[in-house]
Amino acid sequence: MTKNMRHTKIFADGNLTVGRVDPNLYGSFLEHLGRAIYGGIYEPGHPDADENGFRRDVIGLVKELAVPLVRYPGGNFVSGYDWTDGVGPKEKRPVRLDLAWFTTEPNEFGTDEFMKWCRAAGVEPMMAVNMGTGTVKDAARLVEYCNHAGGTELSEYRRSNGADKPYNVRYWCIGNEMDGSWQIGHLDAESYGKKALEAAKVMRWANGEMDEDCPSPLRLVVSGSSNHEMKTFPEWDRIVLEHTYPQVDYLSMHRYYEYGAGRKRPLEDFLGSADDMHRFIGTLRATIEYVRAKVRSEKQVYLSFDEWNVWTQSAERTEPAWKRAPHILEDVYTFQDALVVAGMLNTLLNNCDIVRIGCLAQLVNVIAPIMTKNGGGTFRQTTFYPFRALSNNARGVALRTISDSARFENMYGTARCLNEAVTYDPATGEVCVSLVNYGQEACEAELELRSLGNLKATERTEMTSSDLFAVNGFDCPENVVPHEGELPRVKDGSKAKIVLPAMSWTFLKFSRIA
Ligand code: AHR
Repeated sequence: MTKNMRHTKIFADGNLTVGRVDPNLYGSFLEHLGRAIYGGIYEPGHPDADENGFRRDVIGLVKELAVPLVRYPGGNFVSGYDWTDGVGPKEKRPVRLDLAWFTTEPNEFGTDEFMKWCRAAGVEPMMAVNMGTGTVKDAARLVEYCNHAGGTELSEYRRSNGADKPYNVRYWCIGNEMDGSWQIGHLDAESYGKKALEAAKVMRWANGEMDEDCPSPLRLVVSGSSNHEMKTFPEWDRIVLEHTYPQVDYLSMHRYYEYGAGRKRPLEDFLGSADDMHRFIGTLRATIEYVRAKVRSEKQVYLSFDEWNVWTQSAERTEPAWKRAPHILEDVYTFQDALVVAGMLNTLLNNCDIVRIGCLAQLVNVIAPIMTKNGGGTFRQTTFYPFRALSNNARGVALRTISDSARFENMYGTARCLNEAVTYDPATGEVCVSLVNYGQEACEAELELRSLGNLKATERTEMTSSDLFAVNGFDCPENVVPHEGELPRVKDGSKAKIVLPAMSWTFLKFSRIA
């Protein structure tokens, strides 16, 4: 360490846990939007497509990310979607205008194709129902189509469409961002709360949940605030929960951060995203607790952070309206964006007691870690790497951390220069540490990982770059990738010092010495 290098102590103890890391924290999202579906996961005629038209190269990358759960079919799209358009013989399916994204929806891919794709990709489906133009009846009928064994018109229709056995879909979102004026069929909190309650009730009945013995109850997600800058936040969440608390299992929350088109905003605002996300979670955690007390419930409702990412929303759309599968929202992520995504993942881990579902929005082509070329190849975005490392390794329990990191000021207040998360997996005995140095200078981290046995470092991966705006692309797929670093020496079985380069992400793995 050089004399003036910043020094940060990070302490964690195996007995002090935040909570179990729900594998669904590493979920993702696919919407009928741009080229997420058409040209993304589904491209019949592509040299690598299987007999269903699913791109095998994309499925390979989804598996590499170890995504357990995928939300579908929207997003804003779902609020104008009639699910019956997307089932049955393909030649009879209607071509429609999608009023959420001003594109043309061919409906070649729908519920049955999604279920098949989920099987091929090894992920669990998380369906969303339309609460914009859709009715309570439409929602219940989709549950019946998916989950009822047979003997009714809808379940027999599913069977005739090739799915003899019910899909038994467990996770369901009751609408999407219903607090937003941009949403098709937007409602105020009271109206949505009442509608969501009725939808939840009949969706459960359609799933056979008339009594408490139902072997496979639905896990229902009620629509929370689209972001914490909404004027209605957090009243929206309180009101909606007061209407629905006994019937639902999760409150959804969404948040995207951006540096901004033209990069005119202070960098500190963007680099403080992870800490801001932490505060947003804190407010909704408190809102859930308040409503739980108010409605006298013993049940715990959790948070489903089912859309989060970096997204340059201020970028202009260049594609004309009503195209099929246009190139829209195809953000190319910079090295700096990967640092922000790594910090946001740390925030999810540090709140895993209440956040039980996380969906990186989205998965392919649309603000996504995986990019494809129509008829061509793929590349991994910069953000792919921190997600892959944590999703594959940071499992088990998250540990509480104490850190004396310096802080910087930004529009949200202050944020830590060194952002950390620590997990311990009792199944493997492995400890994972994810460290993001948002400082403009290198810093030394002094780790103390107590009550975890005698540790030795087994992996160190690092992302650094001299260019904060470096990106990957079809021509330079490995321009920004993680590199292996020198393993830190562990002193007394629990202490390690490590120098973190300026603006870097470092991932460390430790295991117990037998
Ligand atoms: O993920 C892109 C869009 O962002 C989703 O459709 C919507 O829910 C959110 O505003």
